[in-house]
Amino acid sequence: MKVLVVGNGGREHALAWTLLQSPNVEQVICTPGNGGTASMNNCQNLPLAVDDFAGIAQAVLKNQISLVVIGPEVPLSLGIVDYLRQRNIAVFGPTKSGARIESSKSWAKEIMSQANVPTAASKTFTDAVTAQEYLQRVGAPIVVKADGLAAGKGVVVAETIEEAIAAVDELWSQDSGKLVIEEFLSGAEISVLALTDGKTIRSLIPAQDHKRIGEGDTGKNTGGMGAYSPVPLVTAELMARIEQEVLQPTLEALNQQNIDYRGVLYAGLMITPLGDPKVIEFNCRFGDPEAQVVLPLLDTPLDEILLACVEQRLEQLPPFNWKAGSAVCVVAAAGGYPDAYETGKAIAGISEVNQEGVIIFQAGTKLQQDRLVTDGGRVLGITAIGDDFAQAVAIAYDAVKSVQFEGMYYRRDIGHKYR
Ligand code: AMP
Ligand code: GLY
Repeated sequence: MKVLVVGNGGREHALAWTLLQSPNVEQVICTPGNGGTASMNNCQNLPLAVDDFAGIAQAVLKNQISLVVIGPEVPLSLGIVDYLRQRNIAVFGPTKSGARIESSKSWAKEIMSQANVPTAASKTFTDAVTAQEYLQRVGAPIVVKADGLAAGKGVVVAETIEEAIAAVDELWSQDSGKLVIEEFLSGAEISVLALTDGKTIRSLIPAQDHKRIGEGDTGKNTGGMGAYSPVPLVTAELMARIEQEVLQPTLEALNQQNIDYRGVLYAGLMITPLGDPKVIEFNCRFGDPEAQVVLPLLDTPLDEILLACVEQRLEQLPPFNWKAGSAVCVVAAAGGYPDAYETGKAIAGISEVNQEGVIIFQAGTKLQQDRLVTDGGRVLGITAIGDDFAQAVAIAYDAVKSVQFEGMYYRRDIGHKYR
């Protein structure tokens, strides 16, 4: 079969790569894709923007696509799944109403409260003055969040009242008129991506992201600077609690709202010092870079799982199989990211990397007259699979040494909290 993947990040390269491992998948088309998806065998890019729903629907018909997989949150929140489903196209991802779990933090909080899902205590505000008065009363540390999508820039974890007050002013100017202020949670942050057909929900193995730009988890938030999977901290017992206390009740609450959710429900979780899971946020799609470490370890054909979600027969699938070992991804970013950065820098060394177990997923790259150049903030996801975590980290950092572009920055401490 042929699969179309919407998006152009490292996640979409990982989706395309994993789909092509399946004996059922003969070709993947990415819209618009990146330099990595343009260079893979049996993979091809079409220059269609992620919000060009009509163009994507036409490409599906023209290329006899059997399954469409939506990578990013923006087209999901704009209703790409509703649009394609209305045209009888098999598409993996939640509808616009389901995508609100990511596109409106205040609504996600309402769902969690209805479902009794453990999460940080919060309040939603519709004017800045009331929000700031509230902050004066409750004090810091505290977390201020824009309600809507903000590409990772909508959250300020404020250590002081002054910072929190400034965050309200700053985020207010970006958002639709709603802010969420919530309790600061401490603990270990993990990502659990679960797949659902709207009735059954099954989690994938857990991953840990590294959101901050600087080593030791310092500096600004980013889309994610590296990840590893699995996470030993998440024992089978803890995973069972996450399924029972978080994933299952959230799906039920979505159903109560008449939302037919067939896609990824991604829970960003804090594991508190007492060992309890609490939701930090939900996303309606695969995490990036989490997808770059979780998907290469999957040993069940991905297309079979995604199709079972679309066709609502996930319950009938046998348990997913996983490869033994561990995966680590180190993100190489453009100098300056997550602030302003330059693009168009030549990328060297990728084709020379041929260590066993290394996969270089590409994110912000493009082919310019057969030259691979940078085209975004997060440029490469240098991923390694090893027999264990220590081996995977060593292989990944060894591979990082082989690739270069002007201004390349990466964190040297991915996995520093491994436990
Ligand atoms: P979000 O976009 O909601 O994932 O927030 C971005 C990052 O901010 C998260 O990955 C956390 O590291 C941090 N964060 C968000 N909410 C909280 C919270 N309530 N307590 C502590 N850290 C948080
Ligand atoms: N890595 C975090 C995210 O995908 O939102």
